[in-house]
Amino acid sequence: MTRTVVVTGATSGIGRATALELAGRGDRLVLAARSPATLDEVRDECRAAGARAIAVPMDVTEPGAVAALADAAQAEYGRVDAWVHTAAVMSYGRFDETPAEVFEQVVRTDLLAAAAVAREALLRFRAGGGTLVLTGSVLGHITAPYMSGYVAAKWGLQGLARTLQQEARETPGVAICLVNPGSVDTPVYRQAANYLGRVGRPPPPIASPERVARAIAHCLDRPRREVSVGRLNVVMRFGFTALPGVYDALVGPLMRRAGLTRQPIAAHRGIVFTPNPAGEAVRGGWLPEVSQVVRAVGGRAATVASAVRRRLP
Ligand SMILES: NC(=O)c1ccc[n+]([C@@H]2O[C@H](COP(=O)([O-])OP(=O)(O)OC[C@H]3O[C@@H](n4cnc5c(N)ncnc54)[C@H](OP(=O)(O)O)[C@@H]3O)[C@@H](O)[C@H]2O)c1
Repeated sequence: MTRTVVVTGATSGIGRATALELAGRGDRLVLAARSPATLDEVRDECRAAGARAIAVPMDVTEPGAVAALADAAQAEYGRVDAWVHTAAVMSYGRFDETPAEVFEQVVRTDLLAAAAVAREALLRFRAGGGTLVLTGSVLGHITAPYMSGYVAAKWGLQGLARTLQQEARETPGVAICLVNPGSVDTPVYRQAANYLGRVGRPPPPIASPERVARAIAHCLDRPRREVSVGRLNVVMRFGFTALPGVYDALVGPLMRRAGLTRQPIAAHRGIVFTPNPAGEAVRGGWLPEVSQVVRAVGGRAATVASAVRRRLP
C-alpha cells in the first residue's frame, strides 16, 4: 500500500534525507518547514525520484499551523498514515548567558511543537492507525554543558514519547517511535543560535543523515519503541548513569575540545526565530563524502607507491 507520510523539518539535514529516502521507496509525501523556496526544491527532488509530493510552508510553533498542515495532507491524499517529525533548533551558550526568549523558543520548537505534532498525528490516526516517528537525541538521555534549552527539550521529548507509547497500547494500529541520533553531519551546528563565541560542531564519531533516514524509514516499516543511531551512544549513557562524578568532570573539557571549533563567532540567534535558507542542505560538511575519502586514500597510495618505486634499484 502506498503510504502518505508527513515530514516536518524537510528542508535540511535528517528530515530532508528522510524525505528523499521515502521518495525512493514510493511513499506519498507532505513536506513541511518554514523556508518556502527550499521546500519547493526538496519537493522537486522527491518528484524527480518518482514520488508524489507537496510542499506546505509552515512554522510548527505557530498556533493552528500543525492542524492546518494535517488538513492539507488529508485534502491532497485523503489520509495520513505516518508522520516523521524532525523539526528542531539549537542554541549554544551558558544558561545564564543565553537570552530567556531564545531558551524558551528552543523549548517551544523542540518540545511543545513536537507535542502539537503528536496530538495532531494521533487524531488523524484514529481512523485507520498510523506511525509517528519523533526525533530525539542521545542528549535526551545524557547532558552536556552550553546546550541547556536543547537538552531540557530532548529530555522532555523522551518522557513524552514513552508516555505516548504506554497510552498507545490501548489503540491497536498506532505506533510511536523515538529515533535518538548521536552526532550527525547536518547543518544544525552552524544554524544554531550562539552565545558562546565559538562555532559548534558534531563531536566524533559522526553518522551521516542518510543513515539516520534509513533508520527512520525502517521504523515506519517495523515500528520500534526506540532506535539509537551512534556508535558511542551506549557508552555515553553508561558513563552518565554509572559514573556521574567522572562523567561531569570530563564532559566540559570534552565538549570544548570535540564539540566546538576554534572559529570565533559573534552572538546571534541563528535560525531559532527565522529560517536561513542559505544554510539548508542534507549534509553539514563535517563528514567527508565517500568519494573524497576514496580520492584521498587513492592519492596517498599513489604517492607511497611512487616513493617505493623510486627507491627500488
Ligand atoms: N544533527 C545532529 O547531530 C543531531 C543529533 C541528534 C539529534 N538530532 C535531531 O535530529 C532532528 C533533525 O536535526 P538536523 O540536524 O537535521 O537539523 P537541521 O539540518 O537544522 O534541520 C532542522 C529542520 O527543522 C526545520 N525547522 C526548524 N524550526 C522550525 C519551525 N519553527 N517550524 C518548522 N520547521 C522548522 C528546519 O527548516 P526551516 O528552518 O526552513 O524551518 C529544518 O528543515 C532534530 O530533532 C535534532 O534535534 C540531530
